[in-house]
Amino acid sequence: MIKVEALEFKYEDGTKVLDNINIDLNKGKIVGIVGANGCGKSTLFLNIMGILKPNKGCIKYNEVEISYNKKYLREYRKMVNIVFQDPEKQLFYSNVYDDVAFSLRNLKICEDEVKARVDRALKKSGAYKFKDKPIHFLSYGQKKRVAIAGTLALDSKVILLDEPTSGLDPYMTKEIKNIVKEISTEKNIVISSHDMDLIYDVCDYVYILGKGQILGEGYTEEVFLREELLKMALLEKPWLVKLHQLLGVPLFKNEEQLVSYGIKKNK
Ligand SMILES: Nc1ncnc2c1ncn2[C@@H]1O[C@H](COP(=O)(O)OP(=O)(O)O)[C@@H](O)[C@H]1O
Ligand SMILES: [Mg+2]
Repeated sequence: MIKVEALEFKYEDGTKVLDNINIDLNKGKIVGIVGANGCGKSTLFLNIMGILKPNKGCIKYNEVEISYNKKYLREYRKMVNIVFQDPEKQLFYSNVYDDVAFSLRNLKICEDEVKARVDRALKKSGAYKFKDKPIHFLSYGQKKRVAIAGTLALDSKVILLDEPTSGLDPYMTKEIKNIVKEISTEKNIVISSHDMDLIYDVCDYVYILGKGQILGEGYTEEVFLREELLKMALLEKPWLVKLHQLLGVPLFKNEEQLVSYGIKKNK
C-alpha cells in the first residue's frame, strides 16, 4: 500500500506547497486528508498519482519507491486511481458507456469483459439508470457518478477521491457517502475534503493538513475532539461532535446512530 515519506513539493514558480509530509494510507480502509482551501490537498493527490514529482522525499507503493517512467506509471495506475474534484476533467466521451469503457478498451480487454465490468461499475456508482444518455445532458452529480464508475471499472486497489461532495446537494452528498462506504469493502479509499461531517462519518483515520504540513493525525473518534488542532487548521467540528460536547449526548458516528438512540429514548 501507499506511504508518503518526507515529501516536499514546490510548484515551478517556487511556491513551496507541501513540506515534510509523512502519510501511511494503510492506517484505515478509508483515510481522510482534511484541510482548508489551498492547504495542498489536491497537490498531494497529484503527487501520489505520480502526475507531479516531489522535490524531496518519495511515494512508496508496497514498500518500493514509485518510478516516473511511462511503463511503471501505466502499471501503477492500474492499482491506484483518482477521481478529480471536477468531473469534467475526467469525462472525454459523449456517452456514459463509452466513457467508462475507455480505459478498459485501452488495456485491450475483450469486449465481453468490458461490458461486464462497465455494467458492474455503473451499478455500483448508481449511474446505470442513465447509462445511455449523452454526457452533456447529465447533472453535475450524475457526472460525478460516471467519473467514479470509470475508476471502479479498472479494478484498482486504491481510489483517491478529491473533494467528492463539493458542489453537491445534501441528497447527492448522502448518496456519495453510501457509495464510498460500499466500495471501501473492496478497496482502500482516500478522501480529501474540508467537509468535516463527511470525513467524520466515513473515515477511519484522518490526517489534518494546514499550510502544507501535517498538523495532526489520528483515529476519527479522537482527532475531532482536539479543539486546538482544529482551530489551528481552520476547521469546523463535525455537527455530531458539537452535539456531544454541548448537550452531553453520547458521541455518535453518524446520523443513523443518533436517530436510533432518539427512538429508543422516546419509547
Ligand atoms: N499550478 C500551480 N502553480 C502554482 N501554485 C499552485 C498551482 N496549483 C496550486 N497552487 C497553489 O498551491 C497551493 C495548494 O493548492 P491545492 O493543492 O489546490 O490546495 P487544496 O486542494 O487543499 O485546496 C495553493 O496556494 C495554490 O494557490
Ligand atoms: Mg483541491
